[in-house]
Amino acid sequence: MGLFDRLVAGFLPVVPKPLVRMVSARYIAGDKLDRAVEVVKKLNLSGALSTLDVLGEHVDRLDDAKATAGAYRRALEEIDAKKLDCNVSVKLTALGLKLDKEFCLETTEALVREAARLKNFVRIDMEDSSCTTDTLDLYRKLRARGHDNVGVVLQAYLRRTAEDVESLLDLSPNVRLCKGIYVEARRIAFQDGAIVNRSFVTLLDRLVDGGAYVGVATHDERLVFEAERIVRKRKLLRSRYEFQMLLGVERGLRDIVMASGHRMRIYVPFGAAWYEYSVRRLKENPAIAGHVVRSLFARR
Ligand code: FDA
Repeated sequence: MGLFDRLVAGFLPVVPKPLVRMVSARYIAGDKLDRAVEVVKKLNLSGALSTLDVLGEHVDRLDDAKATAGAYRRALEEIDAKKLDCNVSVKLTALGLKLDKEFCLETTEALVREAARLKNFVRIDMEDSSCTTDTLDLYRKLRARGHDNVGVVLQAYLRRTAEDVESLLDLSPNVRLCKGIYVEARRIAFQDGAIVNRSFVTLLDRLVDGGAYVGVATHDERLVFEAERIVRKRKLLRSRYEFQMLLGVERGLRDIVMASGHRMRIYVPFGAAWYEYSVRRLKENPAIAGHVVRSLFARR
């Protein structure tokens, strides 16, 4: 990563909001549900499935968690009304996980129940490692209460994930597998990209082997290659897996994967917390931030 790109990423917090908005427009469907619905409609027309994410995490008040749950309920209703091929992805810290686990369980269960009524599905995103055990516990509780329209996320960079997979397989889980995005200590997460990729492939193999439905969430062409190899080798039906990518990232690879006949789900974030999300995304990939700023100057 070039010094310029890193500098641009470092300065992002002091960049005026309108500029961040311009730069991040490709990653975010807007701050309102109706904009997100338009984006999903277009994705569906292009043959891609979607998952809607109401931006925001770590609420400090239970009232904010209730407001987040309300936003998800409206999203589920709109998905149903507009007959979109789209589910929702939730972050448990936005539903009060760090404030009150029981409240979080009840709130998430109410959402999962509402999704079931509308024949839809709720994916529980995975956050930093301080949330892993609680998130998996809550997922298990929902399954134990008979809810099947709920899935979870596992992160290939965590050292514990191989064991988590074993402990979940008896549930025939619906799992999104990703590398993991949070900065974690070495004792918790592999730091070496090659090991993370080995771990991803090993976990994917085991999940498929164990009968899980897998959402292969990556823009890394090496992992797409490995996933396609596993799908072919096992003659996996299309109904047993899907690929997943983030809105605005690696359009080229997305088109290639879809042209190969695989199902592709695009993660579509929207909501009032667009600014915080944008800064995080751009920090993650300074090359993009640098690129955009370069082109801004070039235009002038
Ligand atoms: P890698 O980081 O190697 O990226 C491959 C290429 O993709 C890069 O070279 C770059 O060009 C491009 N790219 C990747 N990310 C980009 C970005 N943000 N902006 C621009 N270009 C980018 N993590 C987590 O901890 N919990 C979760 O619940 C989820 N959920 C989730 C859902 C979906 C649908 C996806 C695709 C990803 C997640 N993630 C996540 C994030 C995931 O853990 C991971 O950090 C990113 O996907 C980047 O890893 P890749 O596998 O894409 O490889």
